[in-house]
This record gives sequence, structure tokens and C-alpha cells, in this order.
Amino acid sequence: MIKKISLKIGRNELCPCGSGKKYKKCCAMKKSQIDPNDVEAYYKRKYDIRLKDSEAVDKIRKAGDLVVQTHELVKGLIKPGITTDEINAVVHEFTIKNGAVPAPLNYKGYPKSVCLSINDVICHGIPSARELLDGDIVNVDITSILDGFYADANQTHFVGTPSQDAIKIVSVAKESLMRALAVVKPGNTIGDIGHAIQTYAEGQGCSVVREFIGHGVGHDFHEGPQVPHFGRKGHGIPLVPGMVFTIEPMINLGSPELYVLDDHWTAVTRDGSLSAQFEETIVVTETGYESLTPLGL
Ligand code: MF3
Ligand code: CO
Ligand code: CO
Repeated sequence: MIKKISLKIGRNELCPCGSGKKYKKCCAMKKSQIDPNDVEAYYKRKYDIRLKDSEAVDKIRKAGDLVVQTHELVKGLIKPGITTDEINAVVHEFTIKNGAVPAPLNYKGYPKSVCLSINDVICHGIPSARELLDGDIVNVDITSILDGFYADANQTHFVGTPSQDAIKIVSVAKESLMRALAVVKPGNTIGDIGHAIQTYAEGQGCSVVREFIGHGVGHDFHEGPQVPHFGRKGHGIPLVPGMVFTIEPMINLGSPELYVLDDHWTAVTRDGSLSAQFEETIVVTETGYESLTPLGL
């Protein structure tokens, strides 16, 4: 259960029904619609979102600690010559050694324990005998299941000496996530998150991938809400304490179009331009958010 005190909707706050109106001008007037003391039931029924109580958040935070530690370990391995299969093996073994399960392995048929996406690969790159080369960028996306709870985070690294293009796209992707995090607080909406990312990234001359989005996470790998990385201010589901989700903007240097390789997983930019991504799992708090996978970006 979420603490009752955290569930009270202020009369001047945005209505949790997503209308974009103030609560007092919306569902507060419709008796049967919503009980301000039962946002948990309301979010489940209306949006299929499971708000997390503090015990669930604690478990996700523990899974997140492991994800962050695994990222630290991998960061030390990123150099020219290592293969993505070798990185996969390290992620797999470290996860298991810590009593957790790598969520990607066998997820909808995915064959490995981590996603490693190089250069024009947007996401879901499958580890292989491919060596990292000087000048590559590589996104490492790690999701662990610890004690039944999931946490999900990714970051993009330079291999050796980066090109100007590499520096640009990694910086814009990282800043996109930071700007999104800065608008996460009760009363703001899912649309505000997408808006913050889209206006910034497009303003930098880059583009936002549409086909893959952030997601609720915790009891499952992917739950509600859906969190697009584009959108309109004030639109979409209002954020309330106890919502746990990822924000994971995929930003392309060229056009946003993609295609998926014959392996049914690897998503690449259609124009061959570089793509970078950063992801954290966060919980909405009374005053803002807490990252459950703080990567220290
Ligand atoms: N970790 C990815 C995400 O951020 C999902 C990977 S699905 C997999 O949502 F099967 F490719 F692992
Ligand atoms: Co994710
Ligand atoms: Co991920």
C-alpha cells in the first residue's frame, strides 16, 4: 500500500484522470469517478498502472543497486579488442553471482543477458564475436531481477578516442535524459517528459526515436505506463507518487527512422547515422523523483 498521505490530490492539481483540467473542475465534481484517497485503485483500473509501496520500491532499489554495480564493472572493460560476447559473459556471471537473474535472457526469445548496441544500432543489439573498435560508441543496457523485482538502466560509452559526431550524440542523449528527469514531479504529466526530451534533442538538430519508449517496471520487465520520448506539455497521465518507470531516450544524429535486422531484434538507424541512449529507473516521490538506478551521469 502507498501511504495514504501521499495519495491526496490537491484541488488545484491536475486531475489524475488525464483530462488536463484541475481536479476541482473535473473528477472532484463527479462523485462516482474518483476517490482522492484511492489513487492506487484508480491508477490500476484506469491506466493499468501498479503504484509501488515503499516495500516494493525498496526491492526495486536493491535490484537497481546491482544494475549500477554491473554498469561499473562493464565500464572498466570497455576498450578496443573486447568482444560483445565477452561483455555478455561478465554481465551474466556477475548477475548470477549476486543472486539475481539477467532479465533479457530468453525474454520473448532474446538470446543473451545484456543488450549491446554499437554506433548506428539504436537498441537491442545482440552480443556476438564483434570486437569493440577505437572510435565506436556502445550502449550497454542492463536489467536485473533480484528477489522478484526488476530494475533497468543503460548508458552509452566511448570506445577509445571519440569522433566529433560521437561526442555530440552521446552528449545530446545524456542531456535529454537529464532534462526529462528535471520535470518529473507530481502534477506534471507523462507528456511533459516527452516534451522536455523532444524540444531539447530536436533543438540540437538531432531526432527522437518513436518506436521504442520508456515503461513502467518493477513487478515485470515492461508494465504501464508507456513513456514516449516525444510529446506535448500537460498531456498524458499525471505523475503521482509511487509510479515507477524508466525514461530511456534514443536519440539519432540523423533521421529518426529505423529498421529491424533479420535477427528480429537489432534496431538500426535507416540512414546509418549514430544513435545514443541513456536510461534510468525512477520512482515519483512527493516532491520530485528518486533514481533507483543512479548512474551518476
Ligand atoms: N532493456 C530494454 C529496455 O530498456 C529491453 C530489452 S528487451 C531484450 O526496455 F529482450 F532485448 F532484452
Ligand atoms: Co527499459
Ligand atoms: Co533497458
